Amino acid sequence: MNKLAFKNCLLIVTGSIAAYKTPDIVRRMRDEGAEVRVVLTSAASEFVTPLVLQAVSGNEVRQDLFDQKAEAGMGHIELARWADAIVIAPASADYIAKLSKGAADDLSTAICRASEAPILIAPAMNLQMWENSFTKEALDSLMKKGVCVCGPDSGSQACGEVGLGRLVEAEVLLESIANLFNAGSMAQIRVMVTAGPTREYIDPVRYLTNQSSGKMGYALARAACEAGANVILISGPTNLEPPKGVGVEYISSASEMESSVVNNIRDIDIFIACAAVSDYRPEIESSQKIKKSASTFSLKLIPNKDILSGVAGLTNAPFTVGFAAETEKLERYAKDKMTKKGIDMIAANLVDNDGTGFNSDDNELTVFWRDKSRILEKQSKEKLARKLVTLISKVYRESL
Ligand code: PMT
Repeated sequence: MNKLAFKNCLLIVTGSIAAYKTPDIVRRMRDEGAEVRVVLTSAASEFVTPLVLQAVSGNEVRQDLFDQKAEAGMGHIELARWADAIVIAPASADYIAKLSKGAADDLSTAICRASEAPILIAPAMNLQMWENSFTKEALDSLMKKGVCVCGPDSGSQACGEVGLGRLVEAEVLLESIANLFNAGSMAQIRVMVTAGPTREYIDPVRYLTNQSSGKMGYALARAACEAGANVILISGPTNLEPPKGVGVEYISSASEMESSVVNNIRDIDIFIACAAVSDYRPEIESSQKIKKSASTFSLKLIPNKDILSGVAGLTNAPFTVGFAAETEKLERYAKDKMTKKGIDMIAANLVDNDGTGFNSDDNELTVFWRDKSRILEKQSKEKLARKLVTLISKVYRESL
């Protein structure tokens, strides 16, 4: 069955360079079975023409609040009632600010005000604009009103900068639109997952790392997304395909992971630390390949920051879930970590046996929270992740 079969999707295109991608988005929405109507803001029409969007959507593109042809001259009410979902993509910084203030002075904002349909925003803007506190505050306020947010992605931008602010890929957007219709246990929740190993470089060609494949963390990000969450995955180096519908930031070292987590943590409701983060890094990273000289070689290591403890210690910290990878005394060590790091929940796994833990397809977890525990028996990491996500969302909601 197509993901958007028989759904009426209203796409609002606003003034961002990424508007040039919308004809492809409309085509893909229709491929998934959606009936699509498009509203263009006046800024958007500088980047994409109504004619192109009319051709790909098969429907007249609307731009004006006062439309003689609309039923009783009230195009906004007609479209607000028609839509099963409203998708604002790309959503510019200006448009997000305007919507958050409750504006209703043009067709698109009037529709958003008049409709009871779920609204999904896909921001696209320059990195600095994205990081500006006005943008964060505007999004905070919209999310508190139940608006869902998808992205943005990280990468090179039209303005020449590199970082967060790109419109998410069409397939990611489609997945998020589909999630609007199957609200699961994590609907409206923003989740951050860390996954995979870190690399601590000794010189340009050598590094310290561990055996984490990223499979457990990627499965969790996918399961949270399937459960309706808006998910960002901070991933160390892996060979895995990014889960569909999930925004991914790739990092290499523990300190890069820490920066990425800190930069994105602000709106997060649940933080799941599944990454195998190196506790130490070489004190000195040589800029040149180290030559063999003496018969012995010593490496001085210094501690990395504990990312999970840092997040748990934030004012307004999200609900925090850690992992404990142990080779013995699973319960004692896991509970110790939960207390020392000040976190809400911990999922403990044994990593000394074949077939579970690092770099395996299966895993077994014992989960601890407050004075409670639950064993999630050995099964594929995909199935296990779904069970853990259900448990996390239940305990998270109880904590509110
Ligand atoms: O990736 P896979 O091959 O699928 O394997 C999955 C896994 C075994 C890596 C996973 O299930 C797991 O156990 N992840 C945590 C591994 C780990 O580093 O555990 P730890 O006991 O050393 O760390 C405890 C917690 O603190 C973890 O949540 C870790 O992400 C976090 N941590 C650790 C160090 C640090 N500097 N910052 C952190 O946030």
